[in-house]
Amino acid sequence: MADDAGLDRAIGKALFERPWVPAPSSTRANDGLGPLFDARSCSACHPGAGPGATRLDAQGVPEELGLVLSLFRTDGAGDPVYGHRLETMTLPGVPAEGTFRVTTENGRPMPQPQALGYGPLDAATHISLRAAPELRGRGRLELVPDATILALEDPDDRDGDGVRGRARRFEVPEGGSRIGRFGWKASHPTLAGQTAEAFALDLGLSTPLRMEPWGDCTEAQTQCRNAPHGPDAEGEPEISAAIVERIVAYLRGLKVPEPTSDAADARGAGLFAATGCAACHRPALPTAGGGTVALFTDVLLHDMGEGLADPAGVPGASAAEWRTAPLAGLSRALEKRAGLLHDGRAADVAAAVSWHGGEAAGARARFDALSGRDRRRLIDYVSRL
Ligand code: HEC
Ligand code: HEC
Repeated sequence: MADDAGLDRAIGKALFERPWVPAPSSTRANDGLGPLFDARSCSACHPGAGPGATRLDAQGVPEELGLVLSLFRTDGAGDPVYGHRLETMTLPGVPAEGTFRVTTENGRPMPQPQALGYGPLDAATHISLRAAPELRGRGRLELVPDATILALEDPDDRDGDGVRGRARRFEVPEGGSRIGRFGWKASHPTLAGQTAEAFALDLGLSTPLRMEPWGDCTEAQTQCRNAPHGPDAEGEPEISAAIVERIVAYLRGLKVPEPTSDAADARGAGLFAATGCAACHRPALPTAGGGTVALFTDVLLHDMGEGLADPAGVPGASAAEWRTAPLAGLSRALEKRAGLLHDGRAADVAAAVSWHGGEAAGARARFDALSGRDRRRLIDYVSRL
C-alpha cells in the first residue's frame, strides 16, 4: 500500500523547490508568478528549508534573497502604493518597485530603498528588514497545545525574574482566538497562513486564503493590476488548496535539527539554564500526543529593548516585541554564515546576545559576567544546536 502521507510530503518538497513561472497571456496554466515578486520559489529564500543568505556586497546590496524589506504602518496596513513588501523583481511591462541597500549605524542595519519606481514611500510607512529563517522542525510548533503556551505567559512578571512574555492572539471568525506561532513577530497561527502570505507577497500567487491574483500590487499600481494572471476565470486561485496542503505537509514533516555533537553537553546545558537563556529559549515543549518539540523557544513575544526595536509596532506586537527565536538548527545557520536575529545583523552567538536587552537584559548581564571559560562553553553549546 502506498504511504499517502510520505507521498504528500515528497510532492510538497517538489512544490517548495519549484520555480513558478508567469501566466501566459492566453492559455490556462497552473501558474501566475508576479507581476511583482521577490523570488521564484520558496527554496530560493529558504534553501534546503534552511535559513536564507543575508550577505551584503560592498555597496550594502543583498547578494542573495534571504533578506526582504517589509513595509508597514502602525495600523497594520502596508504602504498605500507599494503594499506590504518592496518586491525587487517584476514582469516585463510592469514598472519595478525598486531595490534596497543596507548601511549600518552602530552595528544596526538601516535599510534604504533605491530606485523607487512609483515615487517615494508614504510618510506614515515604516520599513524593516526580515531574514528568511530556518524552517526545519518549525512546523512542529503546530503540535504544541495553546494551553501549554498560555501557561508560560507572565505578562505582569509575577515571579519577578524580569522575563514576562505573552502570547500573540488573533481573533478568528468562528469566535475565540488562536495563538500566533510563526514569523519573527508570531504573526501567523498556522503554517497554511504563513505559506499563503509567502505566495501572495513573495511570489505574487493567489491561494484560497489570499485570493488576489495580483499578490501585493495595490490599486495605485494599475499596470500590475491589469497584467495577465493565472487561471482565475472560474474564481479558482492560482495555487489550489491541495498544493498549499502538500507544502504544509512537507513543512510539518521536517524533523527538528539535532545538535551536531552527540556527546550531551550537560555543563553547557546547565550554563544555558543558569544564565537564564532557557527562561525564553525553552529547550522543549510538550505536544498534545505526549511527545516533545525541542526547538528552544516558548513561542511568546518578549520586549527585547530599544536596540532590537523596529521603527514602530503593529497591532498586537509592539516595536520591540519579538517571538523567542527557536535555536534548534543554529549550527547550520552559522556554517552557512546566515546572519542571526530578525534582520540578520549578528554574525555569531556572542553578537546575538550582545543585542539582547529589555526582558533579556538580566540574562545578557549574567552572560557577560561569566568567566571567559564558561562563556566559551555556553557559546559552544548554543553554536552546536
Ligand atoms: C523572498 C524570500 C522568501 C520566499 C520566496 C519565501 N519566504 Fe518564507 N520567510 C521569509 C521571511 C523573510 C520570513 C520571516 C517573515 C517574518 O516573520 O516577517 C519567512 C518565514 C517563513 C516561515 C515561518 C518560520 C518560523 O520560524 O516561524 C515559514 C513556515 C515560511 N517562511 C515558509 C515559506 C513557504 C512555504 C514559502 C513558499 C510558498 C516561502 N516561505 C517563501 C522569506 C521568504
Ligand atoms: C527574554 C527572553 C530571552 C532571553 C532571556 C534570551 N533570549 Fe535569545 N532571543 C530572544 C528573542 C525574542 C530573540 C529574537 C530577537 C530578534 O530577532 O530580534 C532571540 C534571539 C536569539 C538568538 C538568535 C537566533 C536566530 O536564529 O537568529 C540567539 C543565538 C540567542 N537568542 C541566544 C540567547 C542566549 C545564549 C541567551 C542567554 C544568554 C538568550 N538568548 C536569552 C529572547 C530571549
